[in-house]
Amino acid sequence: MECERGMGSAVGQEPKVLMTIVSWVKEVAKVPVIVKLTPNITDITRPARAAQEGGGDAISLINTIQSLIGVDIDNFVTYPVVDGKSSNGGYCGPAVKPIAMNMLKNCAQLPDLKIPISGIGGIENWRDAVEFILLGATSVQVCTAVMHYGFGIIREMVSGLERYMDDKGFENLDQMRGRALPNVMHWEDLNLKYKVVANINEDKCIGCQLCYTACEDGAHQAISLSDDPLNRKPTIIEENCVGCNLCSLVCPVESCIEMQRRDDGKEHLTWKDRTLAGNIPVTFNDPLAGGLHHWVPEPAEALTKQTPLHYKL
Ligand SMILES: Cc1cc2nc3c(=O)[nH]c(=O)nc-3n(C[C@H](O)[C@H](O)[C@H](O)COP(=O)(O)O)c2cc1C
Ligand code: SF4
Ligand code: SF4
Repeated sequence: MECERGMGSAVGQEPKVLMTIVSWVKEVAKVPVIVKLTPNITDITRPARAAQEGGGDAISLINTIQSLIGVDIDNFVTYPVVDGKSSNGGYCGPAVKPIAMNMLKNCAQLPDLKIPISGIGGIENWRDAVEFILLGATSVQVCTAVMHYGFGIIREMVSGLERYMDDKGFENLDQMRGRALPNVMHWEDLNLKYKVVANINEDKCIGCQLCYTACEDGAHQAISLSDDPLNRKPTIIEENCVGCNLCSLVCPVESCIEMQRRDDGKEHLTWKDRTLAGNIPVTFNDPLAGGLHHWVPEPAEALTKQTPLHYKL
């Protein structure tokens, strides 16, 4: 059902039309029919089911994601420029892998979808292939990476996959297929009692303060700076830290900020449990919300916030 520039994408967005076309193809096909799904749709499971209902032997996903690569800001036209005009292209390669894996997971977790799924989107090496298989892919396909590096990468993918399977004791793909699926659940079913906090390794810290900026402006104001202008190394305010991990992602020094577990693993409580019990926060300042002592300023107060001392130096 594909070509993102032609009718394929259009019919791929209409499950009934997709089902009808697949059934026409199946009437005459002498080979298995793999129905390729467009990612340019909100709920990928609808065309996935339609492909099965139409008699498709398998589905594959994803195709490219409609996109614009950029704008020529001097001539007011998007790239690539064709005689002064342009059109959308299809995004692919490593950037689309997270989207492809989410769509694959959504289809693979459907109890009523019985046909195989071929995984596509950003696969470059054996590890990517393993990830797709662990999320339920029966086979994987590679486009951009082969265009970039050549067919030679397939040899490395095969040997890497074989080694992984040996290390894990998998004798065949069936034993590893979908192994990650039971662990991907709805957010409201995750354990709220699982508590991790950020920890800064002072010996590794170079004092760039990127973590402070990220936590202060983008997270939970859980990192403080020293009053001593000569000491640039920040400190975690543990009681404010919600374990979001943002600081460790922005830290340029490897393993400088690590998340450390604080709960004993004995308690289990989900957001769904709390909602059912009516035990959910109703205001920002509710102690049930986020970190304890979490200060949320009124907008007017926030706008007049004093500049921290160290910025004046
Ligand atoms: C240059 C180019 C042309 C493509 N043409 C088609 C096509 O004609 N039909 C199709 O179903 N998919 C087409 N695709 C999509 C790929 O088959 C694949 O689904 C997508 O690029 C994601 O995989 P990748 O990240 O490995 O490239 C094309 C992709 C590229 C990069
Ligand atoms: S984990 Fe999140 S809340 Fe905790 S210090 Fe880092 S950025 Fe702040
Ligand atoms: S981002 Fe990392 S290196 Fe920079 S100040 Fe924070 S902990 Fe130190």
